Amino acid sequence: MSRVEIGAHDRVFVLTGAGISAESGLPTFRAEDGLWAGYRVEDVCTPEAWRRDPAGVWAFYSARRAAGMKAEPNPAHIALAELEAGLGDRFFLCTQNVDDLHERAGSTRLLHMHGELGKSRCERECGRAPVEDHAIYASLDQVPRCPCGGRLRPHIVFFGEMPLEMGRIQSEIDKATVMLVVGTSGSVYPAASFVHWARQNGARTVYIGPEAPLNASAFTQIVEGKAGQVMPGLFQIEAAIPAL
Ligand code: APR
Repeated sequence: MSRVEIGAHDRVFVLTGAGISAESGLPTFRAEDGLWAGYRVEDVCTPEAWRRDPAGVWAFYSARRAAGMKAEPNPAHIALAELEAGLGDRFFLCTQNVDDLHERAGSTRLLHMHGELGKSRCERECGRAPVEDHAIYASLDQVPRCPCGGRLRPHIVFFGEMPLEMGRIQSEIDKATVMLVVGTSGSVYPAASFVHWARQNGARTVYIGPEAPLNASAFTQIVEGKAGQVMPGLFQIEAAIPAL
């Protein structure tokens, strides 16, 4: 298998999706036995679902929290943390995942564009920052209220809501000369467009996963395989030449 070379002046932008956590035991969304086979998006992951049935939404995300707590980072998460350690601020990780397996593997320069399972925020968007919250709620009465009176909702970007920190993501993509995309089907926007933005800027684009994503034609290299199997040892980092 050919390695992915990172030159001394390259800047790497990484986008990860549910596939990177699959080998940690967390189901992806669109596989035959994935989360969206057992639940309807409209019932658990939209602003309308939250207004209609907040208990059902919390039941879904409480189950996700319980599964997330049991999972451990796999070799793919660790390979990205090691890549960051080698590249420092020439590395940036944007994940669509709401689990915390990247952090637990040691990644620090990362952003969760679809929110975080381990946080909640006020449903009224009252301006208070999201709070850390790992609770598993058995009923709606257990869900705390914000000081403003609003109910806490999961800090998750529902379908139809804007992903978080798009300005920062755009500026990191503009700086990147290499984009690595790992374990995402390329079916949810705007994340599925990132590879096109990177290509417009002239970046090399590499996809890692067991099957071609929907936007496969936009990649300059495809590394076929399960992320946890193919990522350890995949990256060859050229040493930076010290300035005279
Ligand atoms: N290693 C790498 N990739 C894998 C692995 C693995 N071991 N196992 C599965 N995959 C790939 C699948 O081939 C698929 O392309 O992971 C991808 C998972 O795709 P989806 O289930 O569509 O998940 P994702 O692309 O992350 O979904 C995007 O959709 O439902 C929303 O907000 C949710 O962030 C999510 C977004």
